[in-house]
Amino acid sequence: MQEQPRATTDSPPAPSRLLGVALDAAQAAATIIREAAPRVRDIPWREKGATDFVSEVDLAAEMRILDVVRREVPQAAILAEETASTISPERQGTGVVFVVDPLDGTTNFLHGYPEYAVSIGVLVNGALAAGVVLDVPSDECFTATAGGGARLNGAPIHVSKIDNPQRALFGTGFPFVRHEEIAPYVGQLARVMAGASGVRRAGAAALDLASVACGRFEGFWEMRLSPWDIAAGMLLVREAGGLVTTFEGEECPVARTSVVAGSAAMHPWFLRTINGE
Ligand code: IPD
Ligand code: CA
Ligand code: CA
Repeated sequence: MQEQPRATTDSPPAPSRLLGVALDAAQAAATIIREAAPRVRDIPWREKGATDFVSEVDLAAEMRILDVVRREVPQAAILAEETASTISPERQGTGVVFVVDPLDGTTNFLHGYPEYAVSIGVLVNGALAAGVVLDVPSDECFTATAGGGARLNGAPIHVSKIDNPQRALFGTGFPFVRHEEIAPYVGQLARVMAGASGVRRAGAAALDLASVACGRFEGFWEMRLSPWDIAAGMLLVREAGGLVTTFEGEECPVARTSVVAGSAAMHPWFLRTINGE
């Protein structure tokens, strides 16, 4: 990481410095995940809730990230999926907050399906300032800073320009915890399938958002995601020229929320179609 001046306690570090810390932390976590991948069949995992799993790899990766953040930005608060999953709205809206998913796509990882990532978003006074989504199997690294654009392995990326839904490819996440959400979700899926060229469910929301940011998907939607799934990916999409809203069309918060992300060209059609309008 490039040497940059440390911030005083009053002034938050610049977005570029926060991105550098997030990147270091994500790479350290990715090393742990990569080392564990060959012995994945022997790794014990348990259910946090029905069909919602955590392994010692998720926990070790999160510990590594927290170590880096605490060392480099000691004044930061942390919202992290496995060990620090709540924060007061006041604290989330004040100063620096790292929002951490140490392993997005745990189910994929546990099955050896190569679609999982480390996702770290950074808030400054409640607004997204920096984000990194590091695709662990492929080593593709998506980064963004507020006002500084989005990048893939250092090269600028932009959302797709396709404006015809029949040529558009969309990503989605299935409801997997609340079974009462399956029926309304299937209605959404049927409408998008009928109007679009294709739909994919790859199993890691942070990577789905990164795919929107770099134009592989024209859009992505899921009924319920958590702040750590979306913090970094939302900044990627917005900095790449796309939109991220709730099902109601409001700007998506870094919170537990529905998500509709899309290119500027496709988001209006996509949102209407999801809502059956
Ligand atoms: C999950 C993945 C998945 C999405 C779920 C998330 P996890 O995160 O992003 O694609 O459908 O809603 O919870 O549990 O693997 O970190
Ligand atoms: Ca996740
Ligand atoms: Ca996770």
